[in-house]
Amino acid sequence: MTRRRRRLNISIVILAAGQGKRMRSALPKVLQPLAGRPVLSHVIESARALGAEDVCVVYGHGGEKVPAAFAGEAVRWALQAEQLGTGHAAQQAMAGTPDAHRVLILFGDVPLLKPSTLAGMLDACGDDEVGVLTVDMDDPFGYGRIIRENGNVVRNVEQKDASEAEQRIREINTGVLCAPAARLKPWLNRLQNANAQGEYYLTDVIGMAATDGVFIRGVKAEDWKEVMGINDRKQLAAAERVLQRRLVDELMTLGVSFADPDRVDIRGKLVCGADVFIDVNAVFEGDVTLGNNVKIESNNVIRNSRLSSGTVVHPNCHIDGASTGDACEIGPFARLRPGAELERNVKVGNFVEVKKSTIAAGSKVNHLSYIGDTTIGTNVNVGAGTITCNYDGASKHRTVIGDDAFIGSGVELVAPVEIGAGATIGAGSTISKTAPPDTLTVARARQVSLPEWQRPGRKEK
Ligand code: UD1
Ligand code: CA
Repeated sequence: MTRRRRRLNISIVILAAGQGKRMRSALPKVLQPLAGRPVLSHVIESARALGAEDVCVVYGHGGEKVPAAFAGEAVRWALQAEQLGTGHAAQQAMAGTPDAHRVLILFGDVPLLKPSTLAGMLDACGDDEVGVLTVDMDDPFGYGRIIRENGNVVRNVEQKDASEAEQRIREINTGVLCAPAARLKPWLNRLQNANAQGEYYLTDVIGMAATDGVFIRGVKAEDWKEVMGINDRKQLAAAERVLQRRLVDELMTLGVSFADPDRVDIRGKLVCGADVFIDVNAVFEGDVTLGNNVKIESNNVIRNSRLSSGTVVHPNCHIDGASTGDACEIGPFARLRPGAELERNVKVGNFVEVKKSTIAAGSKVNHLSYIGDTTIGTNVNVGAGTITCNYDGASKHRTVIGDDAFIGSGVELVAPVEIGAGATIGAGSTISKTAPPDTLTVARARQVSLPEWQRPGRKEK
C-alpha cells in the first residue's frame, strides 16, 4: 500500500478589492454577472471545490456591497481599505492566515479556472516551493510576462514595466500563486511600489523567492481560455461565451441535443433527462429541470421551473416558477407565472397567461386567456378569450372549475366563483355565482334586433 505524503493545510486567498476601472461600471467588477451570478461567485465555488477550510476574500472597492452579495457564504472577509495593488491586497489577508499553512492566491477576476487545474498545481508543488500557474497566450497583451532563466521561473514583469523584448514573451502569469505562508508573509512585508503603476505587485514575490533560493515551479495550464482575466466588457462577454460553451458541452456529453450549441444561455443550473432537445435562443435561469424527451423550441425563457417528460414548449414562451406533468404542450406565446402547476397532458396555447393555478390532467386552455388563482379539474375545456376576474381592486379571489366542465369562449368568471363538474358555460357569459354541475349556465343579455334602427348618415354640406 502506498501512503500519501502528508501535506500542509491550504488557506485560499481571493483578491477582489479592485475597482475594475476598465469595466467603466458603477458595479464592482467582481459583482458583474457571469452566467447569471457574480464573477466572484465562480472563484469562490472553485475554492470550495478544493476543500480548503480557510477561504479569505479581500474586498475594498464597493465597500460592503461585495460581502453583502455573499451573505451566508462561510468565508473570511479581509478589508483592503485602499487599493494599493495585488501584493498589498494579499497582505491584508495574512493576519488570519496560519503560518503553518500553504497559501493559494486566486484573483476574483479570473473566474473560469477549473478546480482540477488548481488541484493539479497544488499537487505538483512541494510544500516549501512557490508555485506559479502560467499559460502561453497568442495575444499576451496586458498580462504579466514570466521570465525564465535556464528553464526556471525567476520573476514576473508587468505589461507596463516590460521592455520590448519582454513584451514578446508569450508565457504569462495567470495570477494563481501558491507559497508557504511562513515565507510569503515576510515577502509581502518587503514589497516596494517603485514601478510604472506605483503599486505593490504580488508578482514581485516571485523574484524575491528566487533571490532567497526558493524553488519556483512554473505550472503551465493547457487552455488559455480557462485562465483569462476579466478586465473590461469585451473580456466579460468572451468569458461568458467560454463558460456557456462549457456548460452546453457538459450537457451534450450527458445526452442532451442542441440545435446550435452557441445559441443557448444557461444562467443557473439546468438538469436534463435523456433525449432532451433544445432549439436556438433558449435562456434558462435559476434551477430548471427538464424530464426525458422534453422539447424546447426556439426563443424561450425558462426560469426556476420543472417540466416533466415529453413536455413540448413551442416558440416564444416565458415560463417562471411553473411545473408541468408529463406530455404537456405549451405555447407558442404562452406565459406561465409562479405557481402555475399543470398536471399531465395539459395544453396551454397562444396568448394564455397562467398564475398561481392548478390545471389537472387532460385540460386545455388554448387561446387568449388569463387564468389566475384558479383550480381547474381534469378534462376541462376553457374556450378562447376566457378570463378569471381574480382581483377586485383590493384582494385576490379563487375560481374553482370542476372536472369535465366546458367553458365557452369569451367567458368572465368573477371570483370567488365555482363551476360544477360537467357544467357547460355559454359563450360570452359573465359568471359571478355558482354554476351547477352537468347543467348549461348562460349569463348574458338576450339578443335583440331592431328593424327600425338606421345607421347615422353623414350630413350633406
Ligand atoms: C494581474 C497580475 C498580472 C496577471 C493578471 C492575470 C499583478 C501585479 N498583476 O494583472 O501579472 O497577468 O493579473 O489576470 O498582480 N486587486 C485587489 N486590490 C488591489 C488591486 C487588485 O484586490 O489593490 C484584485 C482585483 O480585484 C482583481 C485582482 O486583484 O481581482 C487582479 O487585479 P487587476 O488590477 O485586474 O490586475 P491585472 O492588471 O489584471
Ligand atoms: Ca485582471
